[in-house]
Amino acid sequence: MDLKKFVTIVEDWPKPGIKFKDITTLMDNGEAYRYATDRIVDYAKQRNIDIVVGPEARGFIIGCPVAYSLGVGFAPVRKEGKLPRETVKVNYGLEYGSDVLTIHKDAIKPGQRVLITDDLLATGGTIDATIKLVEQLGGVVAGIAFLIELTYLDGRNKLDGYDILTLMEY
Ligand code: PRP
Ligand code: MG
Repeated sequence: MDLKKFVTIVEDWPKPGIKFKDITTLMDNGEAYRYATDRIVDYAKQRNIDIVVGPEARGFIIGCPVAYSLGVGFAPVRKEGKLPRETVKVNYGLEYGSDVLTIHKDAIKPGQRVLITDDLLATGGTIDATIKLVEQLGGVVAGIAFLIELTYLDGRNKLDGYDILTLMEY
């Protein structure tokens, strides 16, 4: 299946010059969403995954159906102040300023093999921070899966040394 047919390119959003990759038109098509999910599940099955981790919000959309299909758990990475119990946290850089991502301290047991999921690899900042959270808890990042990679932003370079699957490149 050509998944790109289901991604809508929105010109000049959220600001002039940006060609936004809208995945909602992939998600609202049952066949395309299942196909994309199954490709990531195939990848995960070769990596003995114990738990899936994804950053809010779009990382949940990708990771939760994968976890369900694998029969493993899903641990959310959230912005600071959203998780109710003890967390570990990491600062990460954004285009303007910085933000903090957190995960519950007991979400991952040392040695567990983790699949990280998100919709999009752009600069790699979000997933670099997510990797740091997983590793702080002793998790092993066994794979990272995205729907889309923006190759011209070279986020893959920031994630050097990790095993990465992307289903579409722009
Ligand atoms: C978007 C996207 C990725 C991230 C990619 O998330 O969903 O998580 O940016 O960019 P990066 O590789 O440069 O870090 P966003 O922060 O817009 O939040 P959302 O998922 O809650 O919409
Ligand atoms: Mg995101």
